[in-house]
Amino acid sequence: PVANSSERSIGRLVVVSNRVPVPNASGAPAAGGLAVALQAALRSRGGVWFGWSGKSAQDAADRQPQTRSLGPITFAVSDLTRRDIEEYYHGFANRALWPICHYRLDLANISERDAAGYFRVNEFFARRLVKLLRPDDIIWIHDYHMIPLAGFLRELGAANRIGYFHHIPWPSPDTASALPCYDRILESFSAYDVVGFQTVPDADNFRDCLIQSAAGRVGADGVCEAHGRKFLVDAFPISIDPDSFALEARLAERNAVVKRMRVSLEGRAMVIGVDRLDYSKGIKHRLEAFAAFLENNPDAVKARVTMLQITPKSRSEVPEYARIQREVAEEVGHLNGKLGDIDWTPLRYINKPMSQAALAGLYRLARVGLVTPLRDGMNLVAKEYVAAQDPNDPGVLVLSQYAGAAQELKSALIVNPYDIEATAAAIARAVAMPLEERIDRWRDMMSALRGNSIDHWTNKCLQAISGEVEAEGESSLH
Ligand code: F6P
Repeated sequence: PVANSSERSIGRLVVVSNRVPVPNASGAPAAGGLAVALQAALRSRGGVWFGWSGKSAQDAADRQPQTRSLGPITFAVSDLTRRDIEEYYHGFANRALWPICHYRLDLANISERDAAGYFRVNEFFARRLVKLLRPDDIIWIHDYHMIPLAGFLRELGAANRIGYFHHIPWPSPDTASALPCYDRILESFSAYDVVGFQTVPDADNFRDCLIQSAAGRVGADGVCEAHGRKFLVDAFPISIDPDSFALEARLAERNAVVKRMRVSLEGRAMVIGVDRLDYSKGIKHRLEAFAAFLENNPDAVKARVTMLQITPKSRSEVPEYARIQREVAEEVGHLNGKLGDIDWTPLRYINKPMSQAALAGLYRLARVGLVTPLRDGMNLVAKEYVAAQDPNDPGVLVLSQYAGAAQELKSALIVNPYDIEATAAAIARAVAMPLEERIDRWRDMMSALRGNSIDHWTNKCLQAISGEVEAEGESSLH
């Protein structure tokens, strides 16, 4: 997806992320829109995908790098010790950065030990990675696990162009400043050449943090200066490949799981929600909204409108996640007990992960897609739901105003997910929406997706990281 001329001039691509989609023994690459797009970019210019193996080593001495090559791509991963995983991943990344970036100060766990572990593991990764680098590689680091990595690479002498993309929200300064080691985290960003966020409001929040910290200056063109370095801060909204997802959804009408679901519905309308089991996804609020929709609409009860919530468990070792798992399961039991009948379970709740093909087909089958996170960087389920629809009979997306996707999918029914009655009313409106309005809304959203596909996103990010965007104009810092 990347222009050939720029590929040759900027050398290899090195992608870094906490999780790495290492191909299995048969060489089959992992599925998933982002993984596929990044592998396409890696394949076209050659390169390395570097990160954690997802496994623990007995002790520090066992953390040997493991590599596997698939054509021009080398996957290089390292185990971490149990202590590393506890402090860096479960601790600082998922109990401090995650809740605070999602505006959940009430769930943040402030621990000096975890913060120290986070920086220590990033330094460990930098020492491993620097050995694999060539001078003309460009480096693209992903997500909140790795914010300090570029700083450590610079200390070790790396002069490469380095970009960072933040997949989750970035909050306003009053919330962000609750982060343990806030100043050090903020300083870490200045080691990059490009810092990308999902939305304009997120990028603005970050610039406000820099301005308020007094350490940084922000130019009108998005170029920032802090700690003696200039770097571009901008919004790069991530996306999907809408046309290939649409094709997958059409083909998935024949998928066995989708067929079973269709048969079991016996013509009833289906509402679908698909999320990792995470408190940021607003699953409890959503279940309550669906229950309120049934309570307020006797016709929907008569028509046995059914909700399918697919929610694979996630980060179960983190106490806040263990708690939300119990709470959601309890809520499902409570609502089915209250609203169900001997021949109808209004809420079908599943903790198993599903294949992308099955999900695509289930989205297409669903009259309503409920994507109502309390806060979300982007939320690609919203985009996939739209792409999966039958153009002649599309379903309706009900979307949280707090998902990054709401900045682009303006023709969804946008709701405040905390407002249970308003969300229930949006479900009712979606279920009853006339075909013509559904088609109009769907066309608007599909054209927004086509205007910013995942390939477009990859190209824009890589152009910026390689310096092509910055070269367009000189910054005017103030
Ligand atoms: O979207 C944020 C993110 O942390 C991704 O980086 C990750 O792939 C996904 O959520 C799942 O989380 P985890 O890697 O903690 O299971």
